[in-house]
Amino acid sequence: MSTDTLTVIDNRTGKSYEITITDGAIKASDLRKLKTNPGDYGLMSYDPAFTNTASTKSAITYLDGDNGKLYYRGYPIEQLAEKSTHLETAYLILNGELPTVPQLEAWETAIKKHWFIHENIKHLIDAFRHDAHPMGMFISAVGASSSFHPESAEIFDPAIRNEQIVRLIAEVPTIAAFSYRHIRGLPVVYPDDDLSYAGNFLSMMFKKAELRYKPNPVLERALDMLFLLHADHEQNCSTNTMRAIGSAHADPYVSLAGAAAALYGPLHGGANEAVVRMLTRIGSTKNIPAFIESVKHGEGKLMGFGHRVYKNFDPRGRIVKQLAYEVFEVTGRNPLLDVALELEKIAREDEYFISRKLYPNVDFYSGLIYQAMGLPTPFFPVLFAIPRTVGWLAQWVELLNDPEQKIARPRQIYIGPEQRDYVPMDKRR
Ligand code: ACO
Repeated sequence: MSTDTLTVIDNRTGKSYEITITDGAIKASDLRKLKTNPGDYGLMSYDPAFTNTASTKSAITYLDGDNGKLYYRGYPIEQLAEKSTHLETAYLILNGELPTVPQLEAWETAIKKHWFIHENIKHLIDAFRHDAHPMGMFISAVGASSSFHPESAEIFDPAIRNEQIVRLIAEVPTIAAFSYRHIRGLPVVYPDDDLSYAGNFLSMMFKKAELRYKPNPVLERALDMLFLLHADHEQNCSTNTMRAIGSAHADPYVSLAGAAAALYGPLHGGANEAVVRMLTRIGSTKNIPAFIESVKHGEGKLMGFGHRVYKNFDPRGRIVKQLAYEVFEVTGRNPLLDVALELEKIAREDEYFISRKLYPNVDFYSGLIYQAMGLPTPFFPVLFAIPRTVGWLAQWVELLNDPEQKIARPRQIYIGPEQRDYVPMDKRR
């Protein structure tokens, strides 16, 4: 018997089946051969939340959760964080290889060509209330952009598709910064072609009356590194959403708006915001033991801890923690850092967290950096969505080019009532 098969005996019928194992997985559809009678649909696998289901083959990001490894296109995240930039890494993620000098120059020029947004999108942002959550504004503006580029529906035309990819990566920082300026009641600052991707973003956020905004190089590099660290993370909740919407052949703008909506949730990209709120609530190291006890009693979660795949340190978390010290050299130490450090120390010695393999994830320290840089807390998930746009788009293209993919449509196990007749209103109890 080949080692690449699985023999299954169905005890309902006594029949034996041989199922092929490829790349460490069986095809769930092969289970349908297991039937109790010819009319039977066949055996299904039940996997709420996809805890053990591979939904795709992917060549983009490799994640080894037990050993805390993360590679983009084979390159370890630590090397990219140290040596690359967000835009260079974006090129790598999208194209599979690091760019040459002319390729990088052309890529950066293309991004700069597209980082102005249509004035009507600015008016759309203006229509929001002053206290609107910036993720609501971001999702709306990205979704609305679909109507400005109707050609984007031609998702199988590579040239059209590439143009939308460049445009989206270029426009998301502008949309984000315009939302911030609106909330603050400030006039918008248009993009500056002389600045880097991160530097231009800082300019659009913080420029005041000075003729030319000069980003602090430490903060510019830190933001760029945070962008790079968030660029992709294989089949997470928002990427799965991007793929699910994309599988219906929706255009990239509305697909990405949906992905951003998934990211907004506090269990996902909204966690960085939730961490800072949690640390603020805890307030002081003396309150930590009581807080930890409340978490252990199920009265809330230790936000920024735990991960579906990492059962070890999130390698991005390590880099972000180190980066925090570099940023605080410039901005001054965020007073919440002491609460975070002590919280991490206590949690990592506590049996509850050890036995469940709960380690700090990327969001545990990133919010502290954003806060020290003067970015408002509700804005943190937007700072996640900007770089993740790269990963969403790369995964979307991979989906469209994958002949094995179809419209995403899981099965269900129906547990509702049997067929019954309509009950008129006067007969209901
Ligand atoms: N605090 C306290 N307990 C936790 C935490 C936490 N942060 N995370 C998981 N647990 C506990 C669960 O209650 C569960 O305990 P039990 O076995 O006694 O029932 C056990 O650990 C296993 O957790 P699951 O919920 O099964 O893990 P899952 O893989 O479904 O969830 C998730 C992963 C959503 C990230 C979870 O750990 C969590 O909610 N963390 C806090 C939010 C957060 O930081 N999210 C950011 C994730 S990274 C990202 O998206 C960028």
